[in-house]
Amino acid sequence: MTDSNSFDKTLTEDGGGSLKKSKKKQKKEDAWRPEGPKDPFAMLDSLPEKKQQEIQRALHLFSLGPSLPKNLQEAKRHTYRFWETQPVPRLDDNITTHGPIVEDEISARKEPYSLPEGFSWDSLDLSSCTVLKELCTLLNENYMEDDDNTIRFNFTVEYLQWALQPPNWLAQWHCAVRVDTNKKLVGFIAAVPADVRVYETQKRMVQVKFLCVHKKLRLKRMTPVLIRELTRRVNQQGLRQAVYTAGIVLPTPLSSCRFWHRPLNPRKLMEVSYPGLRQNMNLQRAVKFNRLPEVTMTKGLRPMTKKDVVGIHSLLQTNSSKFHLSPVLTLQEVEHWLLPREKVIDTYVVEGDDGTLTDVVSFYSVSCKVLNHPVHTDLRAAHLLYIAASATDLAELMEDTVVLAKSKASDIFFALDVMDNKDFLEKLKFSNSDKSLHYYLYNWACPNMSPDKVGLVFPN
Ligand SMILES: CC(C)(COP(=O)(O)OP(=O)(O)OC[C@H]1O[C@@H](n2cnc3c(N)ncnc32)[C@H](O)[C@@H]1OP(=O)(O)O)[C@@H](O)C(=O)NCCC(=O)NCCS
Repeated sequence: MTDSNSFDKTLTEDGGGSLKKSKKKQKKEDAWRPEGPKDPFAMLDSLPEKKQQEIQRALHLFSLGPSLPKNLQEAKRHTYRFWETQPVPRLDDNITTHGPIVEDEISARKEPYSLPEGFSWDSLDLSSCTVLKELCTLLNENYMEDDDNTIRFNFTVEYLQWALQPPNWLAQWHCAVRVDTNKKLVGFIAAVPADVRVYETQKRMVQVKFLCVHKKLRLKRMTPVLIRELTRRVNQQGLRQAVYTAGIVLPTPLSSCRFWHRPLNPRKLMEVSYPGLRQNMNLQRAVKFNRLPEVTMTKGLRPMTKKDVVGIHSLLQTNSSKFHLSPVLTLQEVEHWLLPREKVIDTYVVEGDDGTLTDVVSFYSVSCKVLNHPVHTDLRAAHLLYIAASATDLAELMEDTVVLAKSKASDIFFALDVMDNKDFLEKLKFSNSDKSLHYYLYNWACPNMSPDKVGLVFPN
């Protein structure tokens, strides 16, 4: 890797404490400032919801306000004050080696990172329904889906239990910031344990997800503090690597993938002005174009049951060997991630005449709230998780999956152009959206990869 000297130096400044002056300077720059001199968000927040949305839409239209890089060109002009101090490859590195960026001997700091007065760390105990509901509120009110803020995620307690409590989850990795006076949750970041194979190396690491800062506390550098504290808590358990995804470009994408989407209920999507729909079709044409068969075609296709865990595990293991980045799942993890849970995760298998499983496909569902619409109040999006076929044609299996998602009241189906998905996306009338999803590794350098070599999908 080029420039590794200055990289390592920055890291020593950050973690080692020997270069006090630089550390102080950096601390100052990176300090989270909850009480900014002028807080446009506080002003915004005092307005009625509808007015806030109008302003947000206008800001989006005129592209005002700070925005983080959406592509590599913008990223090269951006100064990453925080990410430049972290063990991640630099944007101009041409990596040909494989391995950690900093070695294991850096010991994990004992005390938590300090927060400004009036705020405290918390580890969310997600086995408590009250705490889960609090997290739902934070995410649903602050984790917006589209830029003009008319469609918002509506995560359910059941969804968060699935996404955040896989085998061996730890409460201290559900890392939150609360306001001391009223205990309100205002920041969150989570990690869940996972074995991941990157090229030839299998590593125990964490998947980082659900980074969220309350709207009122944005642009005050809370994010770097959340990331540092989570890293510390992960390091304490002896893990040094993480995998995470983001729609923005940070240093440095391991792979840059695209979301594709396929309307299942085009009428509703057009009525709520769902972003990214084909503009060249009127309603009648869109309905005709997106029409689907009423029933599935694949013989032997049925919902997964607990008895299928071993068969699915073996199908996924064989399939994942084709990719450079893939999960290495245990039987318990296959059961957790794939066994159907109503309105959260659906998995179907194809059983051959002799009882062996030949194919598997799974999708998870995320609900959204539609704001200020006279008729529609919610939207359901299905997201492709894993598909592995050894007997059925991939496109045919996927067409059946889309039919099944529609029968379960999904309005739209999302898939990334990862794995072999390109084989069916266009054929099944998925459109390339303008949304990217970049994959990143923390403290691991390796050559980047094309989307079709990515075999890891994880729900946010
Ligand atoms: C993403 C979010 C937490 C960023 O908060 P913010 O107030 O805009 O940013 P802060 O001032 O706290 O921190 C800025 C730093 O965080 C980094 N950052 C911003 N979003 C990030 C992300 N998704 N992942 C990692 N780092 C991120 C920025 O690059 C910047 O660091 P830099 O100086 O090295 O460039 C906030 O916008 C949010 O909660 N959004 C809604 C939920 C969401 O989109 N989550 C991300 C899912 S991947």
